[in-house]
Amino acid sequence: MRLALYQPDIPQNAGTMMRMAACLGVAVDLIEPAGFDASDRNLRRAGLDYLARLDLARHVSFARFDAARRAEGRRLVLATTRGAVPYWDFAFRPTDILMVGRESAGVPDEVHDLADARLVVPMREGLRSLNVAVTAAMILGEARRQMR
Ligand SMILES: C[S@@+](CC[C@H](N)C(=O)[O-])C[C@H]1O[C@@H](n2cnc3c(N)ncnc32)[C@H](O)[C@@H]1O
Repeated sequence: MRLALYQPDIPQNAGTMMRMAACLGVAVDLIEPAGFDASDRNLRRAGLDYLARLDLARHVSFARFDAARRAEGRRLVLATTRGAVPYWDFAFRPTDILMVGRESAGVPDEVHDLADARLVVPMREGLRSLNVAVTAAMILGEARRQMR
């Protein structure tokens, strides 16, 4: 499994997800531009001391990321509040990329539409969304449970 961060806005959330990924052995795709200085130097300065242990790929745009993952035959599995499939009903594959959207706006419609699957973490009626890092942890947790 890989975890893709679509143009993250909030460094603390990106740092939390990168730390989790380093600890779990999940590679990260950082799709730029980010809403903050996402250079290695700045990430380290912000306290991400696990950076050296993280398998991190940077992509200058979504188009470049999408071309690379298609070339590798990986499915793009989007976490979205507009998803139709509860994440626990999805059969994950080890080659999947789980992508989370940006904190301020999720992902654009065209990105939403081209994903191979759109998963939701069901929530109580009337509430907007979960924190993005919490979402990533819940869905990766289910994927890892399925793959043991
Ligand atoms: C704070 S939310 C974005 C909210 C944004 N206003 C929107 O309309 O998408 C940031 C990201 O967290 C993930 N997320 C948050 N809650 C979720 C949920 N209940 N199900 C699936 N993904 C969720 C999605 O990837 C989303 O793009």
